[in-house]
Amino acid sequence: MDQLPSDLARILITEEAIQTRVKELAEQISRDFSGVQSLYLVGILKGAFIFLADLARRLQVPHSVDFMALSSYGKTTSSGAVRILMDLREPIEGRDVMIVEDILDTGHTLSYLYHVLGGRNPASIRTCVLVRKQRKSLDVPVHYLGFEIPDVWVVGYGLDFADKFRTLPYIAELKRQ
Ligand code: PRP
Repeated sequence: MDQLPSDLARILITEEAIQTRVKELAEQISRDFSGVQSLYLVGILKGAFIFLADLARRLQVPHSVDFMALSSYGKTTSSGAVRILMDLREPIEGRDVMIVEDILDTGHTLSYLYHVLGGRNPASIRTCVLVRKQRKSLDVPVHYLGFEIPDVWVVGYGLDFADKFRTLPYIAELKRQ
């Protein structure tokens, strides 16, 4: 494998481990939603675009893809106010919705979305998160989870640091600055 970029401390989850787990998640979701007319996948920009692309292509159930963009303030504070920058293209009333997120950190983003989208009267709403940090976070249901990771700054597979490292095929720990 190519040498690790110098800003990165170590690989936490290899490309192979990610792909294996994404396949498992897709199989599980396909089983759970077999028979649904269409699953409405909601990816949260920017971080979830790679995970969503890989997951969606492995699903064995009819689905459509949409995105939302959110901005969050005070990530390091307790307020964690979240605002919608770009909303869904279509109403979700009566539809089966799956929120797809790359990471659950404080939980503010997912918690906000779960409640906002849940308030639009979908038939069902589920969450699928690739990595969850082992830390104190808001209580929000994660129905499908890829990996638990330590509470360190991670990049790769959609996750960035100042918009760098998003397209690495693995997830790595960033060196402390
Ligand atoms: C990241 C990530 C999640 C959110 C999780 O997004 O993609 O959406 O943070 O953090 P939380 O659990 O503390 O709310 P970010 O705001 O960095 O934007 P980006 O995806 O565009 O990089």
